[in-house]
Amino acid sequence: MLVAGVGELVTNDPELGEGPLGLLRNAAVAIEGERVVWIGPTDAAPEGVPGPRIDAAGAAVLPGFVDAHTHLVFAGDRAGEFDARMRGEAYAAGGIRTTVAATRAASDEDLRANARRLAEEALRTGTTTVEVKSGYGLTVDDEARLLGVAGTITDEVTFLGAHVVAPELADDPAAYVDLVVGEMLDACAPLARWCDVFCDRGAFDEDAARRILLAAADRGLGLRLHANQLEHGPGARLAAEVGAASADHLTYLSADDVDALAGADVVATLLPVADLSTRHPWPDARGLLDAGVRVALATDCNPGTSFTTNVPLVVALAVTAMRMTPAEAVWSATAGGAAALRRTDVGRVTPGGFADLLVLEAPSHVHLAYRPGAPLIRTVIRRGDRI
Ligand code: NIG
Ligand code: FE
Repeated sequence: MLVAGVGELVTNDPELGEGPLGLLRNAAVAIEGERVVWIGPTDAAPEGVPGPRIDAAGAAVLPGFVDAHTHLVFAGDRAGEFDARMRGEAYAAGGIRTTVAATRAASDEDLRANARRLAEEALRTGTTTVEVKSGYGLTVDDEARLLGVAGTITDEVTFLGAHVVAPELADDPAAYVDLVVGEMLDACAPLARWCDVFCDRGAFDEDAARRILLAAADRGLGLRLHANQLEHGPGARLAAEVGAASADHLTYLSADDVDALAGADVVATLLPVADLSTRHPWPDARGLLDAGVRVALATDCNPGTSFTTNVPLVVALAVTAMRMTPAEAVWSATAGGAAALRRTDVGRVTPGGFADLLVLEAPSHVHLAYRPGAPLIRTVIRRGDRI
C-alpha cells in the first residue's frame, strides 16, 4: 500500500523531519504487510509498491493513537451515579463495586462483546493500540476471566486485582492483599504484561500498593499505578521508587512528586476526561512538561469516571484546558502512549515500525484541538489494514 499526497506527515521522529513531531510536507508512506517500509517525498515514492494507493489529497497523516489506560472489560453502566454526581454528589472509589457486581454476573460472551464493541468504537476514532485492565472481578477466577477477555482485544493486558478491596473482604483488607499477592497473582501473572494498583483514598495505601507491585515485579510483570487521582498522596513517589513505566491520573501533585517522576523517567499518563467527569481540577501538564517528564494522554475508558473511547476529545481538552501545545498533545497521544507502554514500534511513522496511520479530514495536526468534537478521522490504517 502507498499513502501519497500527504500534506503534513507526523512521524514523531525529529531525525526524519521538522520539530519534535518530525513533520514532513508533501510526503508519502510505503507499507508492506504490517510494517512501514519507506517514507519520503511523494515525488520520490518507490515504483510498484504492491496494493492500493491512497491519495491523502493534502491532508495530514499521523500515527494511530496509543491509548495506554483503559478499563474496557466490564458489564453494566453507572449513568445513575454520573447523574447524581452532576447534581452535586462527590465521586468515591467505592462506586467501583457497583460495576464489580454487574461484571461478576455477566457471561464471558457478554463481556467479550462489550469489550469488542468499545474497542471498535475506539478504532473508529483512531486508536490503533490499546491497553486494557482487569479490576472489576476481584476474585481469583473473575480477575483471570477478565484478563482472558482483555487478551482477545490486545497484547497490552494489565492485571488490576488491586482496584479496590473485594466487597466480601471489605472488613479485612489485609486478607484481600494476601489473596492478591498469592493465589490471584499466581493465576493472573501468566495472562498479563503489566500490574497496576489504585493507590488512593478508598483503595490501597502505600504499604499495600508497594507489596503488591513488588510481588508482581517478582513474577515478571511491568508496573504502572493509578496515583494521586483523588487527593495528594504517596502514589507518584511510589511509582518512581519501584521503577514503574507510568503513573496515571496525577491530578494532585506536589513539586517533590514532579521531581521524583522526572528523576525516575516515569511517564505521566494524564486522563482529562476522568477529571472532567468527576469535577476535579485539571492535572498540571505544564508543570510536568517543564520539569522534563514525558507525558502521555489516554482515555481511562471506564463506566464510572470516564466513559469515553475518544482520544481526539482528550487531545482537544489537553490543549484548550490544560495548556499543552497542539504538538505536545499529539505527541502525548501517540509516542507518549507508546512510551507509557515501553513500545517503540507504535506511536510513530518510521520505517520498520507498525503501519498504524490516521488520515485526517484536515490539513494539519493542529485541527485536532482547533476543531473539538468534529469527526476528523477520515481513514484508519491498522497494522497495514485499511479499516
Ligand atoms: O481510573 N481510579 C480508579 N479506577 C477508575 C475508576 C473506576 C470506576 O469508578 O469504575 C479510574 O478513574
Ligand atoms: Fe483508570
